[in-house]
Amino acid sequence: MLVEAKNLPSHVGIIMDGNGRWAQLRGAPRVQGHREGSKAVRNTVRAARRLGLKALTLYAFSEQNWARPGDEVDALMELLREFLVGERDEIVDNGIRLSAVGNLGRLPTLVRAVLDPLRRESEKNDQMTLTLALSYGGREEIATAARELARQVAAGKRKPEEVTEEALHSLMPSLAVGDPDLVIRTGGERRISNFLLYGLAYAELYFADVLWPDFGSPELHEAIASYQQRERRFGLVGKGGLPTSGPGDERRGASVTRIAI
Ligand code: FPP
Repeated sequence: MLVEAKNLPSHVGIIMDGNGRWAQLRGAPRVQGHREGSKAVRNTVRAARRLGLKALTLYAFSEQNWARPGDEVDALMELLREFLVGERDEIVDNGIRLSAVGNLGRLPTLVRAVLDPLRRESEKNDQMTLTLALSYGGREEIATAARELARQVAAGKRKPEEVTEEALHSLMPSLAVGDPDLVIRTGGERRISNFLLYGLAYAELYFADVLWPDFGSPELHEAIASYQQRERRFGLVGKGGLPTSGPGDERRGASVTRIAI
């Protein structure tokens, strides 16, 4: 699958779904699917870095996932810890900045003890930002930002008219790397499941039937090639097949000619 070097999405988000079904198809416990899913995470991070993506956000654990059986939650936390320990050199040596968004206070110490030092150690890296969405929920993120704005208004630090889209946006950690340009979901379901809700406004969506453990470099390339064939209009008039442009380009420093409707 050919991917153009120009017109790459800057920020790609992935909803990694299908680990359980992958295991079920093999008569294996669900945890085996997560273990294979963890290998797919490694391959995908490498492929994203080699392609030159600036930001990759992976939905690794939702706020709602805490309600899964305790042994599955424990196994996921352990896999996360193993991933962070095992990929430390790959992250640090390749200029990847590791970030995490979500209700991180709920994560067990065994995860925080490896996550926090790696975030600090890699914070100056600038080749690609890898964000793990952990104990994350898009609605929760919006509510947290709204609460902060309400506090600022109550404290007289902000006028109600200054509660703007931009103000909300600036308080969302998941969008610090910019809105997602492309969101991929594996596993055949066609839904968003509370991922990056605010930033999704103009994202291109790509749904793949492949189960997450079978996702890797060729599948990522296929998703990006599909993105590159689309015309992003951002509510404006299309150009009939000419290369696409929009607010995302401006954020990336390109000049954009707009046609107002
Ligand atoms: C969804 O599949 C996947 C998850 C809830 C967890 C994702 C976790 C990993 C990919 C591995 C660990 C993460 C890292 C970052 C190392 P599902 O269990 O809902 O699958 P199903 O829909 O087939 O049941």
